[in-house]
Amino acid sequence: MAGLLIALILIATGAKSAPTSKRSTHIYGNCQQLDIPITASAPSAIYDLPVVDDNLSATAWAVQQDTWSTPDGSAAIKVNTTTMGTWNIHAQLCYPTVANNKVDVLQIATHGAYYDSRYWDPELDPENQSYVEAALKAGYSILTYDRLGAGQSDHPDAYTIVQAPLELEILRQLTVMARNGTLSAFCQHRVPDKVVHVGHSFGSVMTSAFIGTYPELSDGAVITGYVLNKYFGSIGWTSWDVQFANESDIPFSRPSGYVVDSKSGIQNVFFGGNLTTAFTRQQFDYGNSIKQPVPIGELASSYQLVYVTGPRFEGPIQYFLPEFDFFICGGDCKGVSNLTLLHGIYPNASTIEVAIQPNTGHGLTLHNNATAGYEVSFDFLNRHGLGTGA
Ligand SMILES: *[C@@H]1O[C@H](CO)[C@@H](O)[C@H](O)[C@H]1NC(C)=O
Ligand SMILES: *[C@@H]1O[C@H](CO)[C@@H](O)[C@H](O)[C@H]1NC(C)=O
Ligand SMILES: *[C@@H]1O[C@H](CO)[C@@H](O)[C@H](O)[C@H]1NC(C)=O
Ligand SMILES: *[C@@H]1O[C@H](CO)[C@@H](O)[C@H](O)[C@H]1NC(C)=O
Ligand SMILES: *[C@@H]1O[C@H](CO)[C@@H](O)[C@H](O)[C@H]1NC(C)=O
Ligand SMILES: *[C@@H]1O[C@H](CO)[C@@H](O)[C@H](O)[C@H]1NC(C)=O
Ligand SMILES: *[C@@H]1O[C@H](CO)[C@@H](O)[C@H](O)[C@H]1NC(C)=O
Ligand SMILES: *[C@@H]1O[C@H](CO)[C@@H](O)[C@H](O)[C@H]1NC(C)=O
Ligand SMILES: *[C@@H]1O[C@H](CO)[C@@H](O)[C@H](O)[C@H]1NC(C)=O
Repeated sequence: MAGLLIALILIATGAKSAPTSKRSTHIYGNCQQLDIPITASAPSAIYDLPVVDDNLSATAWAVQQDTWSTPDGSAAIKVNTTTMGTWNIHAQLCYPTVANNKVDVLQIATHGAYYDSRYWDPELDPENQSYVEAALKAGYSILTYDRLGAGQSDHPDAYTIVQAPLELEILRQLTVMARNGTLSAFCQHRVPDKVVHVGHSFGSVMTSAFIGTYPELSDGAVITGYVLNKYFGSIGWTSWDVQFANESDIPFSRPSGYVVDSKSGIQNVFFGGNLTTAFTRQQFDYGNSIKQPVPIGELASSYQLVYVTGPRFEGPIQYFLPEFDFFICGGDCKGVSNLTLLHGIYPNASTIEVAIQPNTGHGLTLHNNATAGYEVSFDFLNRHGLGTGA
């Protein structure tokens, strides 16, 4: 009987999936590892993409994508399809240890491309770097997850399955489960009073589209490392300096079509600022060590989420931008945001604020002074009715 109980607890906490790569203990909270089977259906497409199954074809793909005459967006679609299936999504749900919060506010954080949920919860100096720890300390509960194709979630076909609309649907289901109490089938869970969506990079593209598409499911958003502006993506996909996942400096076991940045690509895109003060060699090495492959179909389909508008979203939105973000802002985010444009996307948002984190590159959590940046977002949430009262 006790054995059965332990077995059930192990299943419920997801202990079967290698926990070695995740932090098992936290300073400011109690966290459970979950494996959630999600059955989903979403519009998809067969894009005109080359086969990528070695280093040479990976670089050739990036060059082809950056070539001005290559069709992109919907022009690259050969056939419109629908994808249906059930996939395992690995997640972590954390509650603050000291329950001095008066309001239960759950943050749901979506990581970007080339990382998994460890982006939010680095093992390197968590007190100074982990967004999860900072959120717990501020009284928030927080759900992080590995997007489909990344980390300990499933890695299905890179061309036809892992695409942006399916990923949006997975975020919707996770949010509904958190709000309607059904997450308790997988862990100890209580229904939150409020839910805030947080994103980084492609996770912010998803978060932007999410609050626009499902405004009733979100009370507010913190959009980090992304804002629509004229420099967005202008440095091109070759800047990632990709390798085929199976052949990279850190070999991954992935099917055809998964690419990962080389170490120089990680520096180009994720690290920036003054070399003496912005980040340490150790932070950079760590940032390379936790990188993740990305399926090229996700990138080909990402345009579908970029131009989604949100006239019905009524919550507060903060854009939190690294000062020296190369991929998003062409290397300098100061002055690139256009509030008229942003209010045009979310005309009913209660407020839209843009904040810049000084002396940092795209990978905010992996730079010095990260926690001071998190405080800027928590202060924003506090000022707009989404504090925890802790
Ligand atoms: C696929 O669907 C999109 C959006 O509905 C449409 O613009 C496009 O023409 C379709 N492409 C093909 C090849 O059917
Ligand atoms: C956190 O950062 C502070 C200030 O830079 C530093 O003094 C401290 O040693 C860091 N903590 C750890 C655990 O490295
Ligand atoms: C809660 O949401 C999940 C995911 O959308 C759904 O499958 C389930 O039926 C919902 N349960 C209730 C009680 O609303
Ligand atoms: C692929 O490229 C990476 C980065 O340049 C290199 O470390 C690796 O050895 C290459 N793999 C093969 C099989 O050439
Ligand atoms: C990558 O490696 C895994 C594990 O060895 C293998 O199953 C997979 O087929 C490989 N992918 C390619 C495209 O070679
Ligand atoms: C970087 O910071 C150091 C230490 O504050 C300073 O001496 C140096 O001038 C800065 N470099 C640049 C390029 O701003
Ligand atoms: C803002 O929301 C109100 C009430 O939901 C709605 O009537 C109005 O059309 C929305 N405004 C815009 C610009 O969509
Ligand atoms: C800001 O966006 C608005 C709405 O799209 C546009 O009319 C205006 O020209 C933009 N301003 C700048 C400085 O680009
Ligand atoms: C650290 O970040 C905070 C919040 O953005 C900012 O006010 C402060 O100037 C930063 N400190 C340094 C040394 O960059």
